[in-house]
Amino acid sequence: MTAAPASPSTVAAPTASAGRVWLPTILLANLVAEVLIVVTGGLVRLTGSGLGCPTWPQCVPGSYTPVAHQAEGWHRYVEFGNRTLTSVVSIAAIATLYAVWRWCRPRRDLRVAAFVVLGGVGVQAVLGGITVRTGLSPATVSAHFLVSMCLVTAAAYLVFRAPEGGGARALAVHPLVERLGWLTCAVAAVVLLLGTVVTGSGPHSGDATQPARFGFDPRTVSWLHADAVTLFVGLVVAVWVASRLTGSSSAPGRAWAVVFAVTMAQGAVGYTQYFTGLPWVVVLVHMLLATLLVVALTRAMVRLRSTTR
Ligand code: HEM
Repeated sequence: MTAAPASPSTVAAPTASAGRVWLPTILLANLVAEVLIVVTGGLVRLTGSGLGCPTWPQCVPGSYTPVAHQAEGWHRYVEFGNRTLTSVVSIAAIATLYAVWRWCRPRRDLRVAAFVVLGGVGVQAVLGGITVRTGLSPATVSAHFLVSMCLVTAAAYLVFRAPEGGGARALAVHPLVERLGWLTCAVAAVVLLLGTVVTGSGPHSGDATQPARFGFDPRTVSWLHADAVTLFVGLVVAVWVASRLTGSSSAPGRAWAVVFAVTMAQGAVGYTQYFTGLPWVVVLVHMLLATLLVVALTRAMVRLRSTTR
């Protein structure tokens, strides 16, 4: 007995259900990879392994992998490990673009975000090379970190927006709250920028033997950074309270509560590292929390609106 020909709907069903499983998995894996590479990149800098592979793209002239007679000792493995993770991030970015193309093609916002992720990985590869070739100049180290934060934002946007569907999105709070939210994001960008200036003025700017520095007084820039954080905390509390008061659901308020919690943890870690002489493990936690704050903030901005259908 021959099987009846499949109708268009039965053919489409497995694809749609595969998309339901694979799309969120790929988007989440991409976000995790983006967060991880910030941490491994931080490990490189904080252990002074930035020039563990003194050339780029080859680790040493003539070899893409570390070689036994290298003078850089164990630092070569830390730097090489971070470079290897670049391949993971690249594969995740390509898979993300494919998944969005395959299952969400009509969604222009998701396509743009997926292109930003893939293009950003290319920019980071070039910037990483420039960072090594400029002997870990604090300006390129800072740019490298800040571009990563843009990629994390795009990756987080994909994770939180993809499940919502592509229809019109209505404000879930008073319009002024969303504007205040954007202002909070702008201040967050200033906080991140100043954070990298503090790093570039302190002992953790990257090179173990001959650190390059911005030349600012670390104490002064640390306090400037902390002052911007104070403004940021005030804005987060304002958006959180206003979201609770004007929100049509509890989702925006809950999302901003998470932003507040991460900010508090980050502030505590920031002061701890400042007053304990910047132990590298604590500084690494500070980098991780900065990255998670970007994820939480992206989610909180997404939650200020909801799909109408
Ligand atoms: C919302 C809160 C905060 C955020 C998002 C934040 C973010 C950052 C970022 C992105 C960096 C640079 C990381 C890098 O380039 O590798 C940094 C560095 C730093 N931050 Fe914060 N920070 C916050 C709060 C604070 C507070 C309250 C202090 C207290 C003074 C502080 C002290 C420092 C110090 C000392 C560094 C330099 C660490 C190093 O030498 O690498 N931070 N911060």
